[in-house]
Amino acid sequence: MPCTVVVCGFFGDTGKGKIISYLSLRDKIAITARAGVGPNAGHTVVHEGKEYKMRMLPSAFVYDKCRLLIGPGVLVNPEILFQEIQLTGCQNRVGVDRQCAIIEPKHIEADKKGHLAQKIKTTGSGTGPCNAERALRTVKLAHEVSELEKFLTDVPQEVNAAIDEGKNVLIEGTQGTYLSLYHGTYPYCTSKDVTASAACSDVGVGPTKVDEVIIVFKAYTTRVGGGPLPNELSWEEAEKRGWAEVATVTGRRRRSAPFNYELAKRAVMLNGATQVALTKIDVMFPECKGAKSYEELSKEAKDFIRKIEREMKVPVTLIGTGPDAWEIVDRRKS
Ligand code: IMP
Ligand code: MG
Repeated sequence: MPCTVVVCGFFGDTGKGKIISYLSLRDKIAITARAGVGPNAGHTVVHEGKEYKMRMLPSAFVYDKCRLLIGPGVLVNPEILFQEIQLTGCQNRVGVDRQCAIIEPKHIEADKKGHLAQKIKTTGSGTGPCNAERALRTVKLAHEVSELEKFLTDVPQEVNAAIDEGKNVLIEGTQGTYLSLYHGTYPYCTSKDVTASAACSDVGVGPTKVDEVIIVFKAYTTRVGGGPLPNELSWEEAEKRGWAEVATVTGRRRRSAPFNYELAKRAVMLNGATQVALTKIDVMFPECKGAKSYEELSKEAKDFIRKIEREMKVPVTLIGTGPDAWEIVDRRKS
C-alpha cells in the first residue's frame, strides 16, 4: 500500500484516528501527512492503555518510526501543535510545511461570535476566519513564525520522494465528506473541501500517485453543529442504543441517526473510495467487541457488512471492534 488516503464518508467523527493508528503500526508507515482543515478536527487514538485526542499531529504518532508531517493546505495553531508534540514526545519526527497558514487569536475570536457561532455552530477553533484571510492573501504563514523554525520542511517534496522510493505513505484526511465546502450541506459545513482529492492537494500529492482511498464509516451516523441529519434520533433514543457521543473538540453532544446508505454511496463516489473501513461495529453488536477475525463476528454483524458491500460495491476491508488501535478485523490481502 505505497500511498493511501484515509477520509470520512459522513460528517466526521467516524474513527479515522483509530484506523490511521492501526495502519501505521500494522503496515509500518514511513510517513503520515496530515491533510484537512486544521485544529477543528479531533482524532481519538487509544494505544497501550492511553487515550489521545489529536488536533494537529497525525494519528500515526503511535508508530515510533513514522515521520509526522503537516501539509501546506492545513491551518496550524502553534500552541496546540506544541502541546501535542510535548504530549507525544515526538519532536524529532515532526515536520510542518513552510506554507501552512497560522491561526491567530483574532481568528478564534471571530469564530466564536456572529453567524459562525450562532447559525453554523462551528467548533470555534478559528479555522473559518483563518481560511478566509488566506483567500484574501493576508494570512501569516508558518515560515514567519520563529518558534516553528526547527520544524519547517517541504512536505510535498518529502512525501513524493517517499512514494517514489516505494515507502508506505498515509494521507490523513479530517472532518467528513458532508462537511465539505463544495460537496457538503452548505452553509452548514467547514471552510474548505475535505474529500480525498482535497486531502491530496493539501499535502501536494497528485492524483496519479494514489493507490488506495479508504473511506471510513461508523456503524451509525453522527453530526455536531448545525445542518441537516436525515432520520435524526432524539438524545434519549441515542442513549438507549449506546450511540450518545460527546464531541472531541467542543464537548457538545453529537446528534445521531442510523447508517445512511444513500449518503454513504455518494461519498464512495465523491472520494473514489477503493476500500471501506467500518468502525464501532461493537457498539451496534456488542458480541463483536474485541474480535480480531471475520469468523468471530456474529451473523447479524456479517449481514450488515454484506449489505454495505452490496450497496457500496466496494469491499469492507477493516472492521473496528473497539477503541484500541489493535481491536480490528483486517481483511486486506497481505
Ligand atoms: P468549523 O469547521 O469549525 O468551521 O465548523 C463548521 C461545521 O463543521 C460545524 O458544524 C462543526 O461542528 C463541523 N466540524 C468541523 N470539524 C469537525 C470535525 O472534525 N468533526 C465533526 N464535525 C466537525
Ligand atoms: Mg472527531
